[in-house]
Amino acid sequence: MNLDIFTLFPEAFGWLTGQRPVRKAIERGSRIDLRDYRDWTPLKGGRVDDAPYGGGAGMVLRVDVVDAALNGVYGDGDRPRTVVLTPSGRLLDEPMVSELASEPRLALLSGRYEGFDQRVHDHLADDEISIGRYVLAGGELPAMVVADAIMRKLPGALGDPDSAVEESYSEALEGMPEYPHYTRPPDYRGWSVPEVLVSGDHARVREWRMEQSRRREGRR
Ligand code: ADE
Repeated sequence: MNLDIFTLFPEAFGWLTGQRPVRKAIERGSRIDLRDYRDWTPLKGGRVDDAPYGGGAGMVLRVDVVDAALNGVYGDGDRPRTVVLTPSGRLLDEPMVSELASEPRLALLSGRYEGFDQRVHDHLADDEISIGRYVLAGGELPAMVVADAIMRKLPGALGDPDSAVEESYSEALEGMPEYPHYTRPPDYRGWSVPEVLVSGDHARVREWRMEQSRRREGRR
């Protein structure tokens, strides 16, 4: 995976790139490149935004600036699948993460202020993704959420590859949330671990876990 994250705040991504699963994926040949719109802006003084036509609060990221950044990185060649982070986009879920993780290269566009000029959505982006029905101050945290979810799917990112097989919303759990986990001690202040988990009966454990997942799914 070759991930280009376009942002006004590349320094905000230090935490993401230092994380173990991301580091491991990078050691195995994946890339995360942070692309600062300001490095390509055709406007004076590193300007990237402007007041909205028709008036109103806030500033809007300009379409010419975003296009110049994409051109700067990809030149005249093919552009990769380009995803804009926006609160009104399609809600991110596990199937979409898997789909994005299968792309060889991906561009994530994060914005600030009042968002992007609509022409970015209409002409430069292939997908619009939201990480939830609330508004954050910018697209950096959403871009990190998407990048984290994608990178941990890549081969070698997780210490134990099995941990991604049977996790919440996976095919192994039929798209349901994961069952509860317990570890030692078996009893703490009278809060005891379900008997089935210490029974050594794998078939019963499996059955119990699926039932727990179904209950959690019912509660959602
Ligand atoms: N930018 C601001 N809020 C957002 C959200 N909830 N999802 C994606 N991008 C955003």
